Formats: sequence, C-alpha cells, structure tokens
Amino acid sequence: MSKIDFTQTLASGLGPYNSNVGQWWVKKTRNAAHAAAYLNIASHIVQCAQREKGLIIDYGCGTGLLMKRLVDVLPAWKFLGIDGSTAMLRGAETWARTKRKGRPASIEFRLAKLPDFSVSAPKADIIVFTFPNIVSVASERRQFEEVFRSDRDIAGLLAMKQEEGEGVEALYDSLFMSRVVARNLRFLLRKGGLCIRVDYSQGARDELCRFDQVATLFEEGSLNAKQSRLQPQKFFKLLYSQYYPSPVIRDVYDQTNDKDFLEGGYLVSLLQAI
Ligand SMILES: C[S@@+](CC[C@H](N)C(=O)[O-])C[C@H]1O[C@@H](n2cnc3c(N)ncnc32)[C@H](O)[C@@H]1O
Repeated sequence: MSKIDFTQTLASGLGPYNSNVGQWWVKKTRNAAHAAAYLNIASHIVQCAQREKGLIIDYGCGTGLLMKRLVDVLPAWKFLGIDGSTAMLRGAETWARTKRKGRPASIEFRLAKLPDFSVSAPKADIIVFTFPNIVSVASERRQFEEVFRSDRDIAGLLAMKQEEGEGVEALYDSLFMSRVVARNLRFLLRKGGLCIRVDYSQGARDELCRFDQVATLFEEGSLNAKQSRLQPQKFFKLLYSQYYPSPVIRDVYDQTNDKDFLEGGYLVSLLQAI
C-alpha cells in the first residue's frame, strides 16, 4: 500500500507526477511485473507494425519504457512520446540520447497537457496508451463538455444508471474524460491506423459485468448503436482484446486502497481508427 493520498494529491492537476506520484510510478515500473508486462505489450506492438516504417506515438509515455523496448526492433520507425510531466520526460531523454546515435529515424518527446487537440499533424500509424491515469481538473473537464456535448449526455446517463448519491459525479467524470481521451487518440491517428490500449482490468471483457462491458466500449469509442440505445458515435473498431492476469493491478490498489484491486491484471486491446 502507498502512503500517498492519490485523490487529494492529484485533485490539483498532474503536477505531482513531477514529484511524489512520479517517484511512486518510476519505482513501480522497475518491478518484475511491470517489466514482464512491457515485454508482452511490446510484442503486441511489433506484430501491429507490419509496414517497414511509420510513426508510433506513445500517449502519456512516462519515462518511455515501452518505446525504449521498441526503438531497436523497429529502427526505421519514428517515435513520438507525449507527456505532461517534465520529470518523466527528463527520464525518457536519458535513455533516448544514446539510442538516437546512428538510428535512421527520429525519437522525439513532446511536453503537453493531455487531451490536446491543438496539434493535428503528423498523424500516427500506431498509437499506444498504456496504464492510463490521465489527470484533469474540473475547469478543464467543463471546457471539454462544451465541445463534446453528446459524450457529456451519454456519460451522464450511464453514470446515473449505475451509481447513486456522491458516486455519480466521480463515475461521470471518469467516463466522460476517458471518452475525450479516446477521441484525442483517434484525432492523432490516420484513418485505418491502430490504437493499442492497455487498461487495468479485473478480468477478460466477457467476464466483466454488463455495465463494465458497455462502459469500456463507450470510453474507448468502440460502442455501436446496436450495443446501446444511447446511440453513441463509434470512432474505433475493436479488433481484439486479450486479458493477462498480473500483479500490475496493484497499481490501482495503491491508488484506491480498494481490496478488490489486489487481484486482476490488464487488458491489451487493439482498435482500428474508423
Ligand atoms: C501511470 S503513468 C503511465 C506511463 C506510461 N504510459 C507507462 O505505461 O509507463 C501516467 C502518465 O501519464 C502522464 N499524465 C497524467 N495526466 C496527464 C495529462 N493530463 N497530460 C499529460 N500527461 C499526463 C503522467 O505524467 C505519467 O507519465
């Protein structure tokens, strides 16, 4: 269990990823469970990179540990890591400096607050989004609500169906912002491009309760009108999803203190941009 109160610490934004939360994450990424997961995820990405070259974006890349595993295997591919933490990107630069030498394609990093719809080019062939924890504050969420009104309405209906009382707002915020992040992932990809998501999970998709199944599809942008009467826009097609039991689920336990997250693993899902 971690000593950090994540809810309170991250309530003011992603700043703590430059200090105590960042240190917690870096320590986590060094354990055997994360090393095994990155190895497994990298093999999924290599299978998707069928072309000789292209652009891979790592969204919320942290210290870029996944990219580090991929840059030698895919030498002609360009890599762009995007993250909002200067400390994380400083960590990424330390390994990237050596890897760039003699490499034909670029390895770059961009400091940006995500979701970010301000830079629309270049479009990626592949985008990866692993172990997400995209932090947002209320004022940012309210701005996105003005832009993505139908997502706001559907997230609100889903949250009210599932929760009562105080829990509704937290669930709504999470559903809505995950959906905006998925729209941002789609925005950064070319049509037909691939998105590889790695989400913490307590089981394979078909083992999840009906609400969690629908919420996951809504959040990632792959829910279609046949699966829900709410008529959400579909912007990704789900190609496959595979569940791996793993102690990485304890990242969620650390953040929530909820014992339900002592068991579980992660889902690797492959989506195609429509
Ligand atoms: C749990 S770490 C995952 C890092 C990486 N994807 C991995 O698998 O190692 C979450 C990362 O998201 C970044 N992050 C969180 N909220 C963000 C935001 N609003 N904008 C940009 N980056 C953010 C953090 O700085 C951190 O590097």
